[in-house]
Amino acid sequence: MINETLGIIGGTGWLGGSIAKAVITKALLPAGNLVISNRSGNHPLAQHGVFLVTDNQQLVDRSDLVIIAVRPEHFASLNINATGKTIISLMAGITAQAIAAQTQASAVVRAMPNAAVEIGQSFTPWYCFEEIDTTSKSLVQRLFECVGTAAEVQEESSIDYLSALSGTGPAFPALLMTALANQAIVAGIPIEIAQLAAKNVVVNCSQLLANRDAQEMIDALVAYRGVTAAALQEMTHRNFEEQIGKALEEGATVARNGLQS
Ligand SMILES: NC(=O)c1ccc[n+]([C@@H]2O[C@H](COP(=O)([O-])OP(=O)(O)OC[C@H]3O[C@@H](n4cnc5c(N)ncnc54)[C@H](OP(=O)(O)O)[C@@H]3O)[C@@H](O)[C@H]2O)c1
Repeated sequence: MINETLGIIGGTGWLGGSIAKAVITKALLPAGNLVISNRSGNHPLAQHGVFLVTDNQQLVDRSDLVIIAVRPEHFASLNINATGKTIISLMAGITAQAIAAQTQASAVVRAMPNAAVEIGQSFTPWYCFEEIDTTSKSLVQRLFECVGTAAEVQEESSIDYLSALSGTGPAFPALLMTALANQAIVAGIPIEIAQLAAKNVVVNCSQLLANRDAQEMIDALVAYRGVTAAALQEMTHRNFEEQIGKALEEGATVARNGLQS
């Protein structure tokens, strides 16, 4: 357990709320060392010893480490002074420099978890703007390990790119699952069966990759020269990887250009 006080601005939202629950459940810190804020002023966590406020400056003043987990379009109106504090921003598309300038924080970390924080399965890359001591870095890593795996990246541009990759969480699997099911239905497979088959492939069969190398799996299946090989080769001939590359670049461009309205 750590002694620091953690504040989460927007600590009742999808990401902020999941992180708040996880740091308590995983005993990173006692509930009394957690402060969360929102505008609406209520959340079940407040009944478990977590301090809930609607005044973000009060949250900052009480905290050693402050996570900003509001939507990017709400950042401009936060109006906080975080002099002497470390801020960890989860916001897509807002640069560390813009965060440092607006909050006067002594240190800024940009982190990009995904929706799987809800089930403790997020991958969270994080980036430190300017120098941060190793104790603070280790705290950031431990914090995000409460909701999955995490790793430091050396370039801020990696955060923008990864916003479009791991930051999208279930989006690509959902697209794949929908495409598989829809195409099976077009081919005459009954709807329920098509949906069960597509879900099995994306949710269940992908678990086999947890401990196996994906490229080796593809090579083995292509070498088998069966049904799977024919399907995979059709995808390859139609530039599947190139399409993925374009999709990621498109998302990364939006992240780089900023989402603030
Ligand atoms: N969801 C994802 O998969 C995902 C992935 C990667 C990154 N992100 C980033 O994570 C951030 C949060 O996303 P989310 O999906 O968790 O959003 P969300 O569910 O809408 O949560 C936002 C929270 O912020 C609170 N809030 C809004 N304005 C506030 C203010 N002025 N002061 C204090 N609290 C305020 C809201 O509560 P009230 O309405 O009660 O104020 C709400 O609890 C975003 O910046 C997003 O870019 C999200």
